[in-house]
Amino acid sequence: MLLSVHPDPSALAADLAKLVAERAGEAITARGRFNLVLAGGSTPLELYRRLAAEPWRGRIDWQRTHIFFSDERCVAPDHALSNYGAIHRALLARVKPPKANIHRIRGEWPDPAEEAMRFEKHLRAHFASGEAAFDLVLLGVGADGHTASLFPGSEALEATGRLVMAVPPGPRADPPLERITLTLAAINPARMVMFLATGSAKAEVIARLISGTGEAAEYPAARVRPAGELWWHLDTAVAEKLPALYADRLSSMP
Ligand code: 6PG
Repeated sequence: MLLSVHPDPSALAADLAKLVAERAGEAITARGRFNLVLAGGSTPLELYRRLAAEPWRGRIDWQRTHIFFSDERCVAPDHALSNYGAIHRALLARVKPPKANIHRIRGEWPDPAEEAMRFEKHLRAHFASGEAAFDLVLLGVGADGHTASLFPGSEALEATGRLVMAVPPGPRADPPLERITLTLAAINPARMVMFLATGSAKAEVIARLISGTGEAAEYPAARVRPAGELWWHLDTAVAEKLPALYADRLSSMP
């Protein structure tokens, strides 16, 4: 596990834009395309805006970059709560990847379970060569330890045979909407997973997740164990409760 603590959310976004561009270049050189999963929520939006601006906009080959989404709220893409809508405004409308490279989960579909099945088939076809091994998965984390739309106690956490699941609005889901989410079976084969977390409100859950203490084992985010690298990206505020043993990682990038 890699851990980087950045001075503040803006520095975290700047550092990650460089790292995403590097991962894109490596994937495209090695395999001809870059399969990238974007996290929902608000934390990564500054990163997306930076990727849509120079120098990174021009350095990433968006024609060979395939964009996926960790999860989607069951609303229309132009709804204020749509993850796709927020990511489109921050990034996609500006870098304009080919339409075929944007693998949207249709939150507006009237039957979320049916859309989850459709998208799962689409994923399997995209990775026809074998398992769905994304090159880079960006994930956020909630104060209850959820990630994507995998909430504590959710049956989607145990769905070993499924890559995509519809999940009812969990008691702690904010916003309380039905959602469609990638499962651990879709996330864990990834070559790299980067968690992004900022702000003191999540300091307790982050300290438990990183040090594996308390109820960390119950947290869905603790179940993310990629085949490749797991890299935590924090700002100093959210890292404030990290045990002293991680002190040497503070405000440093490896
Ligand atoms: C969602 C996200 C969710 C998010 C966390 C953190 O659809 O809400 O996929 O998993 O990443 O809830 O959200 P913030 O970044 O807004 O704190």
